[in-house]
Order: sequence, then C-alpha cells, then structure tokens
Amino acid sequence: MKANSDGVISVIGAGYVGLASSVVFAGAGYKVYLVDIDKHKIKLIKKGEAPFYETGIQDLIKRGLDKGNLIPTDSYAEAISNSHIVFSCVGTPDSPDGSTNLQYVFDAANEALKYMQNGTLYAQKSTVSVGTGVKIASLFAKSGKHVEYISNPEFLREGTALRDTLWFDRIVVGNGSRKAIGHIFELYGQVEKWRQDIASSAGIVPPDNAPVGEYIIATNVKSAELTKLAANSFLALKISFANSIAKLADKAGADINEVMAAVGSDPRIGRDFLNAGRGYGGGCFPKDVSGLIASALEHGVDMDIMEAVQDVNASMPGYIMEKLQNYFQGNLKGRKMAILGLSFKAGTSDTRRSPGITLANLLVAADADVRVYDPEAMVEAAPQLHQKVQPQSSLSAAIKDAAAILVATDWPDFIHREVSDYRQQTQPPTLLVDCMNRFDILSVKRAGLEYMGIGRGDF
Ligand code: UDX
Repeated sequence: MKANSDGVISVIGAGYVGLASSVVFAGAGYKVYLVDIDKHKIKLIKKGEAPFYETGIQDLIKRGLDKGNLIPTDSYAEAISNSHIVFSCVGTPDSPDGSTNLQYVFDAANEALKYMQNGTLYAQKSTVSVGTGVKIASLFAKSGKHVEYISNPEFLREGTALRDTLWFDRIVVGNGSRKAIGHIFELYGQVEKWRQDIASSAGIVPPDNAPVGEYIIATNVKSAELTKLAANSFLALKISFANSIAKLADKAGADINEVMAAVGSDPRIGRDFLNAGRGYGGGCFPKDVSGLIASALEHGVDMDIMEAVQDVNASMPGYIMEKLQNYFQGNLKGRKMAILGLSFKAGTSDTRRSPGITLANLLVAADADVRVYDPEAMVEAAPQLHQKVQPQSSLSAAIKDAAAILVATDWPDFIHREVSDYRQQTQPPTLLVDCMNRFDILSVKRAGLEYMGIGRGDF
C-alpha cells in the first residue's frame, strides 16, 4: 500500500485512539475514513471540532479536513468498501463483573465484514481479552471472504496521544502474514517520515528522548492481546507499589520522591510510573487491570497480585481523607476546601475514574464546603459530582479563603505557578495538599503555606 491515493484506510471509533490514529494517518498522506455510529460526534468532527480535549487534535482534524484526507462518516458502507486496511478502535468498557464488554468490538467486526473486500486487512487496536481475536478471525473465515485479522494493540496515553502516535516506541503485530506486516510497516514508516511536519502543524513538542526499541514486534494474536493487558497492568502495579511504600514513608518520616528517585535509578527498575499520590484513574488502567483479572479467572489462574494493586489504588483517596481528618482533628464540617483538577491526569478532559472527583465527593460526605476547578474538565466532571460540590469558573474563585487546597491533577498551571499566588488568596493557616507530590516542600513552606504530601513523611 502506498501513501497516495491508493492508500485508503478506515478507522472505526472516534475515541482517543481512533481519532488520534486517523488524524496522524491522514497527516501522513493516507485517505482516512473515520467511522462512528455516534452521528453527533461525526457532525462535530466534520465541522472541525474535537469531541474532547487533547493537545493538538483540533489542528490536525482541521488539517485533515482541509486537505480532504480525513473523511468523517457514520456510514460503514461508504468507508469500509473502499478501504485496504480497517482499524477497529471502538470502546471496550468494563462490565459490572470486571470483565471486558466486547459488544462494540463484535458489532464493529460484524458490520465491517458486510462491506470488506477480499484482501482487506482488519487490525484490532481496541484492548480486548485474550482469545477475542481468534473468535473474530473465525467469524471472518466462516464468511468465505479473504480478510486477514491482526491484533495491533495501542499504547498511546491520553494528554500525549498525538505525540505517542507519532513517536511510537513499538508496534506490536499479532498474527500477521508477511504481507500484513509489510502493510503495517509501510504505514508506520510513513508516519515516521512525516511526523515532524505533522507535529509542527499542531504545536506538538517531540519527546526529549525519541523512543528506541524494536520497531515491529511480531507475535501470535493471543500474545499481542496479552501484551497490552500485561503492559498496562504492570504500570498500574508500579504505581500501587509506590503508593504502598508512600504510606510507610509517611509513618517512618522518609520522602517517597527521594526514595523512588533512588530506587528508579536502577535501570532494571526504571523511574517511570513510580510517582506516588492519589492513585491512577482513567479509561485504561482500572479497566485493563480488572480485565486481566477476569481473563485469568476464566482460565483458572489466580491473579491475587493484581487484586492487591486494585485495593491499594482504591485506598488512596480514603488515605488522603484520613490525613486531612488527622490534620483538622476530625473536624471538616463547614471547612472551605478547594480541589484543583478533575480530569484523571493533565492534558485531557477525561474524567473517568478520576481521583479528584472521588476526593470532592468524599469531602462533601464529610460535610466540608467543597469548591472545584479544572481548566478543561468541568463539563465532563459535572454529572459525577455530588450536588453539594460547587463548580467554579476559575482557580481564584475555587481557592478563595480555602482552609485547604488539594492539587489533584498536575496541570502545568497548577504546579508551575508561583506558590505565593496560592498564599495571597487565602487566610493563613492554609494547607496545600500535594496529591501528586509535585511541589517542592521548602518552597511551599517558605511561601507561608502548610504542606501535606503523599508519602513525604508528614503524616
Ligand atoms: C495508559 C498507558 O500509559 C498507555 O500506554 C495505554 O495505551 C493507555 O493507558 P493513560 O491512561 O492515558 O495511559 O495515562 P497514564 O499517563 O498512563 O496515567 C494513568 C494514571 O496513572 C493517571 O491517573 C496518572 O495520574 C496515574 N499515574 C501515572 C500515577 O499515579 N503515577 C505515575 O507514576 C504515573
């Protein structure tokens, strides 16, 4: 396949993965149909608007539309029948029992199958439980059409979705024939070739250290599926490990940031994902950890280690509450508390399983007077907030006269501003609760605020 008019791709699902992939493929010269059954979403994208906040995405949508390379549509027929490669990027929410809900994955495969031509490559980017690909491949085989199924798991992070797609560290291809691997190799080769150009048109800053590693890792389909679940679960495990040590550091008087900097300097361990704090949230880690546990259960394998990871993570907002109760001597009633940050991480408006929201609701349950602010996530957070939580339209309004300011998301505006700004808008003593351990303790104290971190020896 060539990066010219012969190269036609369909991407099913306009979520983080689907939208980021489509605008990047379009930027690399492919004609990309972005298919979603949500007509409202498609209408927005056609107008050049992103359905969620993600750095640079709006610019690349506009660029794709202007060049005629990006074609948003709700019609499978229009998109799929013209495409050589179809990427499935639909959502895989978790079911109430923790297993992965694959309804959309199978719906997309069945719908696409109606229109795929012989020779089409169907690439699964959605995170699925182990064994899903084999089922879809046999569904394709039964249809009598020659459609090849591969697993091509996605490792992008929200907030840096475009940068991760442009500067990928590995491409995993499960089940690919030589021809299929060749197509994927060529596609990502084009992305690599055009990435500087795409990035600069959207103001995306390249990573400091461009990722190195295996370019394409070819595996069987089940290995590729398990790789995705295992990779995310391992990262979640690192975070829960850091949080467990943080609780000990608090009691023992150590500083978790110092400990993890030293521990992580061993290249066998690595510093990444050892940041202790209010725990992980989002649409991936919580779901992928429970998906791995459910998959293991299905195969009669115990996954106690990941259950412990879940338990530690779930305990973190409660742990912060315990620290607050301790600090305010059990009296939070009527106290003005500001929460800064409602998205599950900086750089995104996504509020799924967001610790900032959990903290706001826990504080309301403790009868505190709770004000919240986030630069991008107010709209998405609203339905999840208790009605007594008071949303504010600015940081200043949220922190005015607060007894405690909880920085729950590390938005640059929150962590890089002068600490004295916080001090000037409150009456001492004001407590700064550094829920992600991003502040320098001395600077906070020098500015006249009290400091509370997570695992920084101040319990
Ligand atoms: C994750 C994976 O990183 C990505 O490879 C995969 O494709 C999707 O899932 P994402 O959920 O977007 O990406 O965010 P990530 O940056 O991994 O952070 C997840 C959560 O962990 C956030 O709430 C973040 O604040 C938290 N976190 C991260 C920590 O608490 N400590 C850390 O050290 C790192």
